[in-house]
This record gives sequence, C-alpha cells and structure tokens, in this order.
Amino acid sequence: MKAMKALFKHSKPMNTLETINRRISANRFDPAQPLSRAEVEELVACATQAPSSFNLQHWRFIAVTEQQDKERLKAVAYGQQKVADAAVTFIVLGDLQAHTRLPDILMQSVQAGIFDQTTADNMVGMATQMYANPAAQRDEAIRSAAMAAMTLMLAAEAKGLVSGPMIGFDPVGVKREFQIAERYLPVMLLAVGHSASGNWPRKPRLPLGEVLAHGTGASLP
Ligand SMILES: Cc1cc2nc3c(=O)[nH]c(=O)nc-3n(C[C@H](O)[C@H](O)[C@H](O)COP(=O)(O)O)c2cc1C
Repeated sequence: MKAMKALFKHSKPMNTLETINRRISANRFDPAQPLSRAEVEELVACATQAPSSFNLQHWRFIAVTEQQDKERLKAVAYGQQKVADAAVTFIVLGDLQAHTRLPDILMQSVQAGIFDQTTADNMVGMATQMYANPAAQRDEAIRSAAMAAMTLMLAAEAKGLVSGPMIGFDPVGVKREFQIAERYLPVMLLAVGHSASGNWPRKPRLPLGEVLAHGTGASLP
C-alpha cells in the first residue's frame, strides 16, 4: 500500500491554460514526499507576483512544515488531515496595516524609474484616505491575500504539485498557536504537496450563462 502511494504521480500541465483548467482542491497528500525549503520559497516568490492595490502586497505566509507544528495547526483546523499530510501548509495572512508601508514601497518604483515622486506622493494621499476605514483595510487584506493564494495554487499545479485551500480553521486559535501579531488577519490555510491517490476530479461549474453578463447586470439570474 505504501509502495503504491509512493508511485502515484500527479503529472505536470503543459501551459498556463491547462494549469488553470486542471487545478483541483486536493484532500489527499502523500506524507512521504516533503518539499525542500528552496521549493517552498519558489512557490511563495511566485505568489508575490500577484497584483495588489497600490502594490501594497498585503500577503504574508507562514510555512508550516515540521510534523509537530502541522499537528498543532491541524488541531485548530477542525482536524483536517491534509494539514498533517501535505508537505507544507501555508498560513496565508493579510496585513491590515499594509497602507502604512506605502511610501517605502512606492520609493522602490521611483528608484527603478517606473514613475516619479509626485506620482508616488499622489498615490500615498489617495491610499491614506481609502484605507482610513478598518472595513476597507480588512477587505483589501483579504483581496490581496486571496490573489496571492490563487497565484500560489497555480504555481504549485505548474510544478506538478497539488494544493488545498481551507477556510475551515479557528482564526483565534491559529493566531495564538503561531504567535501572529494583531495586525495580521488569517485569510486562509493552503496545503501544498505531492498528491496521493483518491483526490476528487474537477468539479462542474455553473454554466457561463449564469455567471457572465454582457454589458449590464440585469440579465444575471
Ligand atoms: C476560500 C476557500 C476555502 C475553502 N475551505 C475548504 C476547507 O476548509 N476544507 C476543504 O476540504 N476544502 C475547502 N475549500 C475547497 C473547496 O471546497 C473547493 O475549492 C471547491 O469545492 C471547488 O473544487 P475545486 O477547487 O476542486 O475546483 C475551500 C476553497 C476556498 C477557495
């Protein structure tokens, strides 16, 4: 049985569209196949190529790879076994105070010659107004972290790995167990690793006619 598990290989997709169309949320991971630190870092480096409002990059990641840490995470993730089996489960966080870093972040683009300091100063003015409100801070933290998580899932698929996003966890417990500062909102857990057999195939989606309207929302059911 162990030998059969080790033989199971999730093949690599050929291109971006195939990557998108093949990805599934995996429940079964091979616990016998870890990922190297370099592989974990490559996945996160890909995730950070996601877009974010003003390039604020609200996303932060905690890579949980040690067995005892995985067990602690599983205990605050309603016992979801994939947290213990996957090579890595990322705690994907959103920074509620990301806008306070904006002058530094924009300076990098000014120094790279992408836009000038006046443009940067205007952006800081706009962002300061937009993110004065805690609801906007929270919305943006979730939006950006979700963008990064999706990018990470596609990077994993492109590398022949599988991924499993999870909202089934106790955010207070996760913050406590992993010493996460107040400013970071746990947005989702994301298990990544080599597939074991038994994952569900792609699930059907709503028909395009139900989700796409042309020109006006009036036709949406
Ligand atoms: C934000 C989010 C949270 C999810 N939470 C869980 C979870 O806690 N446990 C789980 O088994 N699957 C979870 N899923 C996986 C969904 O059930 C899955 O994406 C959906 O059924 C569509 O299947 P597919 O991703 O294979 O196409 C979650 C997915 C997303 C995007």
